[in-house]
Amino acid sequence: MKEILIATSNSHKVEEFKEMLEPLGYQVRSLKDLPEKIEINETGKTFEENSMIKAMTLHQALGCAVMADDSGLMVDALDGAPGVYSARFMGEDTSYDLKNQYIIDAVKGKERGAQFVCVISYVEKDGTATSYKGVVRGEINDCILGDKGFGYDPIFYYPPYHTTLANVSEEMKNAVSHRGIALRACVEYLKGRE
Ligand code: IMP
Repeated sequence: MKEILIATSNSHKVEEFKEMLEPLGYQVRSLKDLPEKIEINETGKTFEENSMIKAMTLHQALGCAVMADDSGLMVDALDGAPGVYSARFMGEDTSYDLKNQYIIDAVKGKERGAQFVCVISYVEKDGTATSYKGVVRGEINDCILGDKGFGYDPIFYYPPYHTTLANVSEEMKNAVSHRGIALRACVEYLKGRE
């Protein structure tokens, strides 16, 4: 059985990865399945660097195949912030209601363009490393809208759906999302290696 460790303990993400990888015959484990916590220092300045740091740190510690993602929201009017600091923006413990309202206020009267970015890095058992990027463009909505998804979804208006990504089903989000795009590219690579 082929095994892949997913470098996350976010159950939302684990399910998304499982859905794509299990049909290819992979047994998927996540950080929640590890007997002890492995320290990862996300010191990178780009999504590429951080996803590779996560994947390589775990691969070097455990010697197994690892897939890691790093993602975030980039707001045009804020010069790409919060970017790689999306989770830490205004402090890890600050609620997303507050973070989202802050961003809505910050773009008032300005250009509303924004994008979600995700980079997935995959390090195989033999150490071969590759990365895959997914981007979805949208706009910052003028109010918090929707209760599905997580994080910045309630302010991310996706024009083709005429609403925010927190207001559509998980299937609809995955079909167009940054993580969905990056994951499908990575899966194509895996298929080519079979
Ligand atoms: P990480 O990739 O787990 O480090 O997540 C980075 C942060 O970016 C998350 O904690 C969210 O704040 C934000 N983020 C990444 N992807 C999404 C998404 O699909 N929806 C909403 N927020 C997201």
